[in-house]
Amino acid sequence: MSRTITIRAFKYNPLIKDSKAQFVEYKLEETSGMTLFIALSQIREKYDADLNFDFVCRAGICGSCGMMVNGRPRLACRTLTKDFPEGVLELMPLPSFKLIKDLSVDTGVWMNGMSKRVESWIHSDHTTDISKLEDKVEPEVAQEVFELDRCIECGICVAACGTKLMRPDFVGAVGLNRVARFYIDSLDKRTDEDYYELVGDDNGVFGCMSLLACEDNCPKNLPLQSKIAYMRRKLVQVK
Ligand code: SF4
Ligand code: FES
Repeated sequence: MSRTITIRAFKYNPLIKDSKAQFVEYKLEETSGMTLFIALSQIREKYDADLNFDFVCRAGICGSCGMMVNGRPRLACRTLTKDFPEGVLELMPLPSFKLIKDLSVDTGVWMNGMSKRVESWIHSDHTTDISKLEDKVEPEVAQEVFELDRCIECGICVAACGTKLMRPDFVGAVGLNRVARFYIDSLDKRTDEDYYELVGDDNGVFGCMSLLACEDNCPKNLPLQSKIAYMRRKLVQVK
């Protein structure tokens, strides 16, 4: 049986001087298989063309549509309205990122900074010769790297993280996942000491308070906590 749902969306434009932060309520008829993306698109089409939110793929791949839904970070395109029995969804922008407007935040600048901070590229003194076959990687190593490379940089683990709220420079589970990805990769020649220099402090691998919210909320079910623990075990041995 169809029902009416309520979407309470946060609205605020930081670029307009007298813009007031407020919640605006919209009522919608829920349809079968309705996602939050569909609901928000209907709102924009029928009631409020000014409401800002981000989407690209609508399939849980691009990582653009993260937002807080009833206090928990989620991908809006993978959130079904039927999973909220009360029929009320309160939407806020992801914390820890720069607010663009309403539900839209800039995760890109943060992710770019994180990538540079953890030097997110293969370090090797080996020059690539494209006329030769690529260097071999053992299949089980490649598999593990591919597994961690499934991260879509949605920022949900960062938004869910209590440590990040306490330590603004904390590199987050996404950053530590990236470090683990290169640590495991046999093509990367960085030593334990090099990694210690990068993330061997409280803004890195030793800052995590193991509250587990990153892994609980990651839409890609990445093994974030076990990889943080793995990096900790490796780096705690650096003299
Ligand atoms: S680790 Fe998971 S939650 Fe964090 S950015 Fe990647 S996909 Fe999103
Ligand atoms: S729109 Fe791409 S992940 Fe939701």
